[in-house]
Amino acid sequence: RTVYVNGDYLPETEAKVSIFDRGFLMADGVYEVTSVLGGKLIDFDGHAKRLERSLGELDMAAPVTMDDLLEIHRQLVARNGITDGLVYLQITRGSAGDRDFAFPDPATTPSTIVLFTQNKPGLAQSPQAEAGIKVISIEDIRWGRRDIKTVQLLYPSMGKMMAKKAGVDDAWMVEDGFVTEGTSNNAYIVKGGKIITRALSTEILHGITRAAVLRFAEEAQMEVEERNFSIEEAKAADEAFITSASSFVMPVVEIDGAALGAGTPGPVARRLREIYLDESL
Ligand code: PDD
Repeated sequence: RTVYVNGDYLPETEAKVSIFDRGFLMADGVYEVTSVLGGKLIDFDGHAKRLERSLGELDMAAPVTMDDLLEIHRQLVARNGITDGLVYLQITRGSAGDRDFAFPDPATTPSTIVLFTQNKPGLAQSPQAEAGIKVISIEDIRWGRRDIKTVQLLYPSMGKMMAKKAGVDDAWMVEDGFVTEGTSNNAYIVKGGKIITRALSTEILHGITRAAVLRFAEEAQMEVEERNFSIEEAKAADEAFITSASSFVMPVVEIDGAALGAGTPGPVARRLREIYLDESL
């Protein structure tokens, strides 16, 4: 696999980053995941805009222009022959050659930028989407700026492991009685045809897929309500689903052991997945 590191395209075995990099020592970095379908980057502009926002919130400068970034994405997709898959991008604050809590001077400390691809043939034809996924609820104990897409993913990883241990696919995180989001996706329920999802704030990531799906839903005259919902309300819903760049729209058929509706993907989630994939291709 060919990867990109600080200006160079290299075989993955030759790519190097300093052990003093603040991304490694302090999770001082941000990332994006953009999906590729049929060789085409999905929603690149949305991901680029969110990246700029994440960088801005952390007083980091982009080491390349967004046009360069698009070109790097395209190069990696082409060089690795990706038809369906993902492009992972990470930018960290780099390293001043020591460990220090204070940020290093950006004028003398270049940030680190790394991109790589993940090949996922048939990404859109997921058997999981046919069956739907099962989730458990866990407490949300993450930090308070979840709108910044940082590489600080330890708790979401632990949540994924809690789900695996419980024999299910993912975990929905709950704070003050209301669902925030999934470990790496936004969460939705459907009741009486209405799509309900938490409103944007610093408490959740502003999903690029979320924005697209809500736009398509409104264009299709489906009703959308942005508000908090509890696990109890979710368990009593007709349907549920998640969205993310890697799962698109994925039906949820069970929450904390309770089957939703018929225990199979619901019509609203199926239709939104279809519309999203149609519009993206
Ligand atoms: N995760 N919420 C969280 C906590 C996420 O990590 C993600 C994305 C989303 C969905 O955002 P988007 O629609 O822009 O992908 C919501 C990526 C896919 C990941 O970490 O792999």
